[in-house]
Amino acid sequence: MASTDWLTNTRHSYDTVAESYAGLVRHLLDETPYERAALALFADFVRAAGGGPVADVGCGPGRITAHLQQYGVDAFGIDLSPAMIKIAHRDHPGLRFAVGSMTALGLAAGSVTGLVAWYSLIHIPDDEIAGVLAHFHRVLRPDGPLLLAFHVGSDSQLKTQGYGGHPMKVHVHRRQPAQMAAWLEEAGFAVEAQTTLSSPESKLGGILSARRRR
Ligand SMILES: C[S@@+](CC[C@H](N)C(=O)[O-])C[C@H]1O[C@@H](n2cnc3c(N)ncnc32)[C@H](O)[C@@H]1O
Repeated sequence: MASTDWLTNTRHSYDTVAESYAGLVRHLLDETPYERAALALFADFVRAAGGGPVADVGCGPGRITAHLQQYGVDAFGIDLSPAMIKIAHRDHPGLRFAVGSMTALGLAAGSVTGLVAWYSLIHIPDDEIAGVLAHFHRVLRPDGPLLLAFHVGSDSQLKTQGYGGHPMKVHVHRRQPAQMAAWLEEAGFAVEAQTTLSSPESKLGGILSARRRR
């Protein structure tokens, strides 16, 4: 497989499921109190840093972007899938969304106060993670908070359908929190908290909070 086939397949997969995915997750945060708590704390960190723009990378239909806006955070979303971005604009008029890939993040150095990647790094292969985290480090201000959610595990599976039985061709990479933390430390982040969810809301959710080192 050519090196960017996985990116093309991921984009196409999420274009295919965008509408059904948006319908399934629209009110999901109502059922995920630990995730809400992590996002509220992240919003506190952004406020304590004096506010400023926050990138939601891999924003999908924009539910996390919009949720952060409710906390008064100046969040904007970026996603690989044009169909997802179209839905994000439709469902959250007035908020800023753009098509882009975290593998080539088109944001200026030091231009964001905080960065969230909510279940989007799960589609990045191991050997591309360092490059993505280098982009996160570059675009964040010193001490800027970073919040990640991911699937906990140690395997990679090819997802061939999802979100209502639609065809997909996307790898889902599950990671151990210790592995994610090690990658972050190597990339110049200080890891501050790791949460592994085992509540009914998620049997395999991992949340990791870090800050860009100066
Ligand atoms: C499981 S969805 C999560 C969406 C959203 N963060 C949420 O929690 O509802 C994964 C999202 O990551 C996006 N994505 C995957 N690879 C990406 C990349 N390289 N750059 C930007 N977005 C990406 C997909 O298009 C998809 O919208």
